[in-house]
Amino acid sequence: MTQEAPSRRLVVPGIVVTVAGGAAGFAVAHGSDAARPAASSASAGGGGAEGTGTGAAAGALARVDDVPADGGVILEGPGIVLTRDETGTVQGFSTVCTHQGCKVSSVANGKISCPCHGSAFDTRTGQPVAGPAKAPLPPVAVTVRGGSVFPA
Ligand code: FES
Repeated sequence: MTQEAPSRRLVVPGIVVTVAGGAAGFAVAHGSDAARPAASSASAGGGGAEGTGTGAAAGALARVDDVPADGGVILEGPGIVLTRDETGTVQGFSTVCTHQGCKVSSVANGKISCPCHGSAFDTRTGQPVAGPAKAPLPPVAVTVRGGSVFPA
């Protein structure tokens, strides 16, 4: 499948999802049936976040296909960054920057970035890799079932 272009946004009722290429995360869903790589690439037009789109189960945060392999999405409603590494492991982090509390705004090139003062966090660990933030993004427990990501 083709690699998705970085930094796309899709709006689902009540939620804005930012899709960006080049990331991974802090695993929670490792080993589940949907932790495997998706058969299709993530589609910015597919919707699916919050269980309201095409194919997401009720109560789901997003479809696994909405989290690009080696990338991530920002779910502004629940305040969760979902990342997926090259092995298909989906991970969750808080969107609240540990520097001064701004919301992170993008996921690209293995980094979750905060627009306020330039902090960036590793998509696999949540650890700060740039900027003034000293503490990692807190992990958010998520689980994957039937191709959808749920709060754990
Ligand atoms: S609040 Fe995120 S870098 Fe300052």
